[in-house]
Formats: sequence, structure tokens, C-alpha cells
Amino acid sequence: MEIRNFAIIAHIDHGKSTLADRIMEICGAVPKDHPQQLLDSLELEREHGITIKLKAIRLAYRKSTIDHSNSKNRGNEQLAIDNRQVQNYILNLIDTPGHVDFAYEVSRSLASVEGAVLVVDSTQGIQAQTLANFNLSLEAGVTIIPVINKIDSPAARIEETVNELSSLGFKESEILKVSAKTGEGVEPLIAEIIKRIPEPKRLTINNELSALIFDSSLDPYKGVVATIRMFGGEIKKGREVLLIATGARTQILELGYLTPTPKFVDKLSLGEVGFIVTNLKDLQAVKVGDTITLPQDPASSLPGYQEARPVVFLSFYPTDPHDLPKLKVGLEKLKLNDSSLSFSPESSTSLGQGFRLGFLGLLHAQITQERLEREYDLDIIVTSPSVNFEIDGRIINKPAEFDPTSKSVREPYALVSIFAPQKYFGTISNLVHEKRGEIKNIENLGTSQKIEAEIPLLDILIGFYDQLKTVTSGFASFDFGIGEYKDANLVKLDILVNHEPIEGLAQIVPKERAEEIGRKLVEKLKEAIPRQQIAIPIQAAIGGKIVARETVASFRKDVTQKLYGGDVTRKMKLLEKQKKGKKRMRRFGQVEIPQDAFLAVLKI
Ligand code: GTP
Repeated sequence: MEIRNFAIIAHIDHGKSTLADRIMEICGAVPKDHPQQLLDSLELEREHGITIKLKAIRLAYRKSTIDHSNSKNRGNEQLAIDNRQVQNYILNLIDTPGHVDFAYEVSRSLASVEGAVLVVDSTQGIQAQTLANFNLSLEAGVTIIPVINKIDSPAARIEETVNELSSLGFKESEILKVSAKTGEGVEPLIAEIIKRIPEPKRLTINNELSALIFDSSLDPYKGVVATIRMFGGEIKKGREVLLIATGARTQILELGYLTPTPKFVDKLSLGEVGFIVTNLKDLQAVKVGDTITLPQDPASSLPGYQEARPVVFLSFYPTDPHDLPKLKVGLEKLKLNDSSLSFSPESSTSLGQGFRLGFLGLLHAQITQERLEREYDLDIIVTSPSVNFEIDGRIINKPAEFDPTSKSVREPYALVSIFAPQKYFGTISNLVHEKRGEIKNIENLGTSQKIEAEIPLLDILIGFYDQLKTVTSGFASFDFGIGEYKDANLVKLDILVNHEPIEGLAQIVPKERAEEIGRKLVEKLKEAIPRQQIAIPIQAAIGGKIVARETVASFRKDVTQKLYGGDVTRKMKLLEKQKKGKKRMRRFGQVEIPQDAFLAVLKI
């Protein structure tokens, strides 16, 4: 059977998971009435409507063709059917996430395939992640099939999208048009996948076992499960294998592939994509990007990947200090399946015990927080996000470690690609300057434009996306990579609530904007902190000097005052309700600060 391995890549929401649904239906892998975006199986993926993790699915496709060479003379349809030829294919489809925080999942997927289906939403045209993914595919050297999606939509701009794709170098005849919603054009797409994408390549000389690990997770009952792509030889159940980079050895307990339901087999051979169940209990032993081989006949290691490095750091503290052990267990469990998550314990004078965490981006942080709160029944205070600053040659990311007397202060820059219609150049240029950035290059693509700029990473992580969307009425998109460190003029902004500095609210900010940020922050905090028994001053300070102040007036709220008579049960219920509301508050001296207040930073 012939094999074709491909990834579906696109900008966020351009329809990858929906297209995967249609392809799976055509291959008979799932019934028609399955839930939509079937591959987004995590609860959070369904809720947010986004893909977070890549998924590899094996599909069987039967292609039947009628051989007309014999039927010509006889002109008989029945005979023609007798000459029908059936060819069976295995299609390994990898659905990838579109959000920039999870871009490393895309590069991992592309290293495991020979082709990429690049989906572009015809109502939006090319966007920043379309370009980023296009470039990743070029680097990976895979065959790219450009596909215009959502052609059923009244808002579709098919011709313009064709022009944009042409300016990337695609011929018009190469571009396919589909509706992942109605299924139109999806069967012809499968035919093109088979025709254009080459058969799986072998990367070993003597067909020694060589398999690339491109994803891993922990099954608590069995061990680490790795998703692999076979680049040489065979992997068999019961055999002992070697993981080259970590040096770990494991027996293959089980192996198979997802259809999307797991199917167990005895071996996987060259070109196949599947999973292996190991007897290893530690995810660290099974590094994504590592090569699996046989200890007695080892292959050389495959190119692998760069490890995903955290770019944004923040701390998680339990709202209720007694929940610290629960938070620790939750983080340890999440880490088992998310190797890009890093954390270490820390303590703060105002917040007590908690953890400092590193994330790939703020969406990654938000998803981790939501999972902890939901799956481990926790309430978490999240502190202001920070990047890695270089202070006198030392890397720090905690405002508390910032020394205002240091001689050299440097911060990381992001290399940003903004994609937008040309008419927004002026507003985008203003925004880049407001964010302390500099435009480096401009390239026109049809009626749109790619603007490359260098902007401090700190300014990109907080608020940039929303502001860019606002100034371009939603038409711009952006993507970024990490650039180099440059000299910076930064200060530490402290926030005092009732004259007490609250560590989780402190931030390292650009000096020229420190007062403005301080003012906005105390305004937001005033809205977020409820009135209490006493009046509460909220102040912003730089180097001990107060630069902004707001006051939450005192107020005594009697929740039971509305009640008439002496209905004790109702009164109890109301007090109970109030107590629940309070659970999300944390006491600082005389003042209670709700968990939400800590998100104020993200709102300015
Ligand atoms: P991420 O995984 O988050 O990057 O998104 P995605 O690219 O997988 O997109 P998804 O399949 O979740 O689709 C995004 C939205 O577009 C959903 O609301 C789909 O119903 C809708 N959509 C997808 N394909 C089509 C289509 O062909 N036509 C129309 N009208 N809507 C579509």
C-alpha cells in the first residue's frame, strides 16, 4: 500500500480542523454525525474553538479508477466496471495548531511529513501565520499544496486570495478551492495529495531502525506514549529500543496508530506514522525530536528540533494558601504532558508560597491556568508577566530582582511580521513606534503588505495583538520570533495597596511610559477591588516616589439587608453565597484583593 504523509497548516481559524473532519469522513474513518472539529478533543480546545496540540491520524483511502482500454470496442458499461482498478492508500494526516504560541508544534509536524496542505480562508486572505507556516514548509523542504477554503461563504474573496497565493510563487493551476464546511472540492484535494506529495523517504543507508519522536504524552497506567514517524527499518512489539539523545532504553509494550480510535499492531515500518507505548515513567526520558533505534544496530540521529523555550514568565499563587500542595501536584501532572512548561517554587513577602513559571506565550499561560483551576479545583493569583531581562550580564525575570542601580540593562526584542492591507500602513507604523519599535522592511503582496519590525518583546506580549486589531479594524495579523538583546531604559513600577507593596503587581516597564502605565494600572485596580470596611489607597511608585493614586471608598455591605422577616435558611444561603464569592479573594493585611485584580495589568 502506498503511503502519503502530510500536515494541514494554516493561520488560526482558517479551517484546518474542519477540513480534517471532511477528509476523515471521506475515508470512512468517522460517522457523518460525529462532533465537529473532532480532532480538537481537549475540553479547552473545544471551548476556545482552537487547536492546541498536533494530532496524527491514519486514514485508509480507496481510489478506484475505471480502465477504459478494453471497454472501448465493446461500448459496454458493465465490462468497464469489470475493469475497475482499486488502489489503496494510507494517508497520515497531522492537524496542527494555528496560534503563534504553539508554532513549534507546526515545525515538529513538518519534520515528519513530505507534504503540507496550506489552507487559506478566502474571507480573510493570506495572514501572518499563513506566511510563517509557508516559510516553515519551505525550510522543511516539503511539497506545499495551496488550498483556498470557505468558498461557500458569501464573504469569500476567491480571486484576491488566488492573487495573493500567486505572489508567493504558486501557479494558478496549482491552487485548489474547497469548502471544508460543505465538503465541496475535498475529494479532488485528496486526489491531488496522492498525486503531488511524494512517497515517504528513507533516511537510513541500510534500513536500520530510525524513527523520529514528534510528540509525547504520559499514560498514567502504562508509561510514556510517543508519536513517531518511521524513517527506516521496522519497530516491533516487545523489542528493546534505544533513544539516542537521552540514552534511555525501553521495551516497546504496545504500538499502533490512531484512526482516530487507537488500533494496535505488531510492527510499524518505513514511512508509517504511529505511536509506541514505552515502559518509561518519566517524560523527560522521551524527548520530542529524539531518534529511536536498535541498541545493537544503531542508526545515526535524525536532525531533530530546537527545543521550545519559554519567553514569558509569571507566577502562580494559590488564592487560598492551603492549596499550595494541590497546585504543586497539578503543575507536576500538567508538566508530564507539556514539556514546554517550566516551573520552580518561589516565595514572596506579600503572596506567600507559589511557583514561577515559564511559558511560550500568554495563551499558553492562560490555558495552563484554566486547566489547573478546572481540573484541580484551584483558584490562582497570576502575577504580572515578564520577559528575561539582562541586568549587568545576569538574566532575571522577576521584578523583585530588578536593581535600579545596575549599569547595564538590556531587554529582548521580537522580530515581528505584520500582514495587513496596504492602506493601514500609517496606523501600523504609528503603533510600532508607540511600542518602541522600528520598521525594518516592507514587502507588497497583492493589495496587502508584509511589514517587518523590531519591537521589544515585552511590548509584544502585552496588548499588542488587541491594539493591532483595533487600529486595522481586525484586518491585520502578526507573527513573531525572538530576536537579540538591546540596551533598554527600564524601571521597576511598584503598586501599593493600603500602603503595602503587592509583589505580584510590580512590573518592569520602559521609563518613558512608567508614569502612564502606573496611572492606568491604579485606575483599573480601583475598578477591580471592591469597597471594604476602610478606605483603600492604591498607589503606583517608582523608586519610592508615588506617581499615581486612586482610592477605593469605604463601604459596609450587608448582604442580608434586603431580607425581610427572620427567614434563617434564606439568610444562611445568602451568606454562603457571599462566602463562595470571597473564595476568589486574597487577604493582604486589612485588605482583600480579588483574584481578578491581578489581571488588570493585561487590560491596560
Ligand atoms: P485553529 O485550530 O484554532 O487554528 O482553527 P482551525 O484552522 O482548525 O479552524 P476550524 O476548523 O476550527 O474552523 C474555524 C471556523 O471556520 C469554524 O467556525 C468553522 O465552522 C468555520 N469554517 C471552516 N471551514 C469553513 C468553510 O469551508 N466554510 C465556512 N463558511 N466556514 C468554515
